[in-house]
Amino acid sequence: MVCRHNDELEALVKEAKKVTDEGEVASYIPALAKADKHDLSVAIYYSNNICLSAGDVEKTFTLQSISKVLSLALVLMEYGKDKVFSYVGQEPTGDPFNSIIKLETMNPSKPLNPMINAGALAVTSLIRGKTAKERLDYLLSFIRRLTNNQKITYCREVAESEYSTSMINRALCYYMKQYGIFEDEVEAVMDLYTKQCAIEMNSLDLAKIGSVFALNGRHPETGEQVISKDVARICKTFMVTCGMYNASGEFAIKVGIPAKSGVSGGIMGISPYDFGIGIFGPALDEKGNSIAGVKLLEIMSEMYRLSIF
Ligand code: DON
Repeated sequence: MVCRHNDELEALVKEAKKVTDEGEVASYIPALAKADKHDLSVAIYYSNNICLSAGDVEKTFTLQSISKVLSLALVLMEYGKDKVFSYVGQEPTGDPFNSIIKLETMNPSKPLNPMINAGALAVTSLIRGKTAKERLDYLLSFIRRLTNNQKITYCREVAESEYSTSMINRALCYYMKQYGIFEDEVEAVMDLYTKQCAIEMNSLDLAKIGSVFALNGRHPETGEQVISKDVARICKTFMVTCGMYNASGEFAIKVGIPAKSGVSGGIMGISPYDFGIGIFGPALDEKGNSIAGVKLLEIMSEMYRLSIF
């Protein structure tokens, strides 16, 4: 499927790009620091398989936290809500994505939601498989069905870079293990989680995943129900309440669509029934969201009246 370049969208990208100077690329995962902070691309994938784009949509990036929605969908379909929500909560948090504070102050000590790192690590620990390879293959094959792209894999350099430096995430795992929220081996989960976060694609692939959510789990190209309708609904609800971390409230007011960001600068957005949006803009704001990506969505939301509220 080819995505057609669109001049109107390109003008919006040009406008949103102006704020990239005010952001910084993530550097706490050393390999991400190599990104060009002035990049910005967008693809819109419609439910009738038409796709429009602007910027360099061939450029690939790693999913980082966007992968948290996909691992959540996978384990919810596997085990159901009762089991999954016994390990992770359903409430937003006003704290940064890698904060440990609520694990300490909440009773029981359970991560507030699956979009913050603690919750996502607990979710990843539930991914089925007897060996590390089996678990990763299971996740990758799900993401290949979502993108309808068999070439999707993870970026070794980014995975290794995060694995060798991610001490706060290890601390979160050990803390949860102490309280029985986490039963697996910490290093095994860190290995799987860092590979999950390093799954690589371009904005077109990401927009296509968004369109699957827009169609309540049905793939617009293959017709396959890749995610059950109920699980797609739960994931979209988490994207509204927690998808942009402690900026989710402001984002809901300014943009008003389900969306999930990652520190690589990716954002997946969903316009219910209509289309999925994939954005890559690596300059981040202070909360870890793509600064130009959010700006672009604000402009698009106002122009095309995207808010679901
Ligand atoms: O665990 C981490 O810190 C990263 N792999 C993902 C964090 C992330 O993408 C937060 N997003 N804005």
